[in-house]
Amino acid sequence: MKAKIIPFVLLAIVAISAAAQNKIIINTDLGKEKISKHIYGHFSEHLGTCIYGGYWVGEDSKIPNTAGIRNDVVNALKEIGIPNLRWPGGCFADEYHWMDGIGPRNERPTMINTHWGGVTENNAFGTHEFLELCNQLACEPVICGNLGSGSVQEMSQWVEYLNSSNISPMTDIRKSNGREEPWGVRYWGVGNENWGCGGSMTAEYYTNEMRRYSTFTKNYGNNRLYKIAGGPNSDDYHWMETLMKDGNPGQNFQGVSLHYYTIAHDWNHKGSATQFDEKEYFTTLKKTMHMNELLDKHIAIMDKYDPQNRVGLVVDEWGNWHDVEPGTNPGFLYQQNTMRDALVASVNLDIFNQHARRVKMANIAQTVNVLQAMILTKDDKIVKTPSFYVFKMYTVHHDATLLPSNIICENYSSENESVPALSATASKDDSGKIHVTISNLDPTNAKEVSCDLRGAEKISFVRGQGGDRTKN
Ligand code: AHR
Repeated sequence: MKAKIIPFVLLAIVAISAAAQNKIIINTDLGKEKISKHIYGHFSEHLGTCIYGGYWVGEDSKIPNTAGIRNDVVNALKEIGIPNLRWPGGCFADEYHWMDGIGPRNERPTMINTHWGGVTENNAFGTHEFLELCNQLACEPVICGNLGSGSVQEMSQWVEYLNSSNISPMTDIRKSNGREEPWGVRYWGVGNENWGCGGSMTAEYYTNEMRRYSTFTKNYGNNRLYKIAGGPNSDDYHWMETLMKDGNPGQNFQGVSLHYYTIAHDWNHKGSATQFDEKEYFTTLKKTMHMNELLDKHIAIMDKYDPQNRVGLVVDEWGNWHDVEPGTNPGFLYQQNTMRDALVASVNLDIFNQHARRVKMANIAQTVNVLQAMILTKDDKIVKTPSFYVFKMYTVHHDATLLPSNIICENYSSENESVPALSATASKDDSGKIHVTISNLDPTNAKEVSCDLRGAEKISFVRGQGGDRTKN
């Protein structure tokens, strides 16, 4: 069946051209992969004002809060159906000692956050506060353990503290801190960026360390840990190969991470979040599409060593990384957010969805006030960013079945380079509803798009929703 529709649209798609050169062929009856809702996950680090000020204001704050956590931020994140939250880092994870963040707050030791601005961390927000935040958000916690500067014992005891219901020294301490029942934390990161800030290790060295740490992070009761090995940086295929060949995938780890940030220029001059011309806009989108090649190549390696598809690829840091806003602390990574960011979000989410067979989780960096945030706060006020609204529109794909689609479309060109002008995902939910999200990357030309819904016997109704860039 062929239907011409204005589908569920991300950007304003206005019919101005008579000839429909843009077509999305959707095979409505051929879907087999589920798009894990965990692809729509988030990441929050002890960095800048993400945790302190962003979530945590303390019980005595005038800002409305529940147990010290801002109500406005929690309510906003619930709107986008936040499925999981990764914490405490990032680079911070590999210098974080979890025991500093439990017990009476006024007795917790302080530390210096050496990675992010050299500020004093008072450990007011620790394990109990994070898990209370996840409880309020009704999302799954993803905790990244310290492999870089911690010890096997420390990591092992953290898991015991969180998940054991036995009589043990760790559970005694947990109970004395007011938590009787174990939390049953499932997602566990075995270090972060251990090729860099997490210890400057070689792939071979990390793989051995990961085996050792993983051996001592135990399952308790019925809870089965989903351990996420610290994976490669961007196109470090040797790292992936080593981990998959020698790390005993499926046993020592169930997921492997991948980090790739979109940077318009280079690490020394990333470019402004708001002051950019069309050339830079184009370059940003082209660079973000590199995610597609990274996934194809890393997945090919994973397929070689794990043909049964037991291990998930977890893109647990991604998004736009711009220069900080002028006048803000360079170590706080505070950046503004525009429609360019919204498109970077939709393009990446489409890429993850298309790789749903292997990509089981992803976490955009970093939710509140840091990098490509969903929410920016100032004192008692919050603003939801353009990226937030993409995540909101895409909730329809959470745990839906990916529908194989072909996008036949015009190119969007700049100077001698081109990218496809459209990016899209089609999925079918449990009730049989088909959702199509489409982004038009061309900033000046609206597109007419026809959707060919193949295999659908009857289309009972069609409805569209747009995001109009002129209104943002
Ligand atoms: O998200 C900011 C930083 O980027 C993280 O701490 C680190 O893992 C990555 O390099």
